[in-house]
Amino acid sequence: MSAGIPKILILPGDGIGPEVAAEARKVLDALRSRHGFHADIAEGLIGGAAYDAAGEPLPEATLAAARGADAVLLAAVGGPRYDSLPRDKRPERGLLAIRAGLGLYANLRPAILFPELAAASSLKPELVAGLDLLIVRELTGGIYFGKPRGIETRDGQRVGVNTEVYSESEIERIARSAFTAAQLRGKRLCSVDKANVLESSELWREVVIRVGRDFPEVQLSHQYVDNAAMQLVRAPKQFDVIVTSNLFGDILSDIAAQLTGSIGMLPSASLNERAQGLYEPIHGSAPDIAGKGVANPLAMILSLAMLLRYSLKRGDLADKVEGAVRRVLADGLRTADIARPGEATVGTVQMGAAVVAALGG
Ligand code: IPM
Ligand code: MG
Repeated sequence: MSAGIPKILILPGDGIGPEVAAEARKVLDALRSRHGFHADIAEGLIGGAAYDAAGEPLPEATLAAARGADAVLLAAVGGPRYDSLPRDKRPERGLLAIRAGLGLYANLRPAILFPELAAASSLKPELVAGLDLLIVRELTGGIYFGKPRGIETRDGQRVGVNTEVYSESEIERIARSAFTAAQLRGKRLCSVDKANVLESSELWREVVIRVGRDFPEVQLSHQYVDNAAMQLVRAPKQFDVIVTSNLFGDILSDIAAQLTGSIGMLPSASLNERAQGLYEPIHGSAPDIAGKGVANPLAMILSLAMLLRYSLKRGDLADKVEGAVRRVLADGLRTADIARPGEATVGTVQMGAAVVAALGG
C-alpha cells in the first residue's frame, strides 16, 4: 500500500451494480465520518456503462485510475443489451482486462454460511451448518488467456480453439497464496486438478507438492475436479481451502456459492503481488431486478470489508463492517433473495441504511 491516505476506486458497472455500490459507498462514508477512517474515493466506468460512455468496456482512464489506487471495489458488469456486441467490446471483457491489467492472479472466494441463513441452502442444514471454506482460484492464466485461441477454418470447417497453459512460476505463486491462506485458517489445503488426463494438471500437481514443502504445517491433499464437484455437494465441510485453476475455480466457486444458498451474500478478492486488490461480489449484474431497488447489497458491503482487511490492512474496520452485517441478519432483516417464503423483506436502500446504523459510533 502506498504511504499516506489510501486511494479507493469504485466501479459501479451495470445492472444492480450502481444500486449496491451506492450502499457500500454509504458504509465507507460512515467509516470516514464516524470512525476516523481517511481515504480518497473516486468512481470510474467499466463494463456496459463504460461502453455506452466511451465505446470501450475498460477505458484507458479507468485502468490508469485502477493502477494508481490501493484497491478497487467493483460491483458487477454485463446485461442483455450488450450480448450482441463483438467479443472485445462486451462488458465481461472489461472485467477480464482489468484482472489482467493489474496482474490479479489470486482470486479468493470464501463461501461462508451465516447461521441465520442456513435454511436458504438447497442442501440439508446438517451438511452445511457452520460451512466456511475458501476457494483460491488462479485468475490470470489457464484457458481464459492461453494461446492459441480463436475460431479458424481447418479442412473446410470452422474449429474453435482455446489452450490450457500454466507455467511453473504461475502455479508456484498461486500455490503460495493458497498455502499462506490455509496457514491462517484451518491448515488444510486441497489442490484440485485433472492430472489423470491433462499434462497442465500433471505439472500443477508436481509444483503444488513442491511448494508444500515450505509449509509443513499445512496438510495437503489432491482431488480430481469431477470428484471435487461431487464432494462439494456431498460433504462440503471436509474442505478448508481449495486451490485450483482459472476454469475449474470458476465452476467450483459457483457450486460453493450455492451451498450457502445466497449468492447475494458472498464477496471476493483478487490480489496481485503487491496486495493491491480488486474486490467484488460473486453475484452478477442481475439485469432482471436492476433498477427495482430490491437487490441485496450485503455481498458488496462484505467485499468492502475484504478490501479493508487485505489491501488496507484495516482488520479493525473490516471486523466492524462484518459485525454490522451479522447484526442486521440477527435482527431479521432480509432482502428478497435471502427471505423465506412469507417473510417480510426490505429493499436495497433499507438494508444499506440498517448496516450503517449497526456500525454504531
Ligand atoms: C466470474 C465470472 C467471470 C469469469 C465472467 C463474467 C467473465 O463468471 O467472475 O466467475 O468467468 O471469470
Ligand atoms: Mg463465474
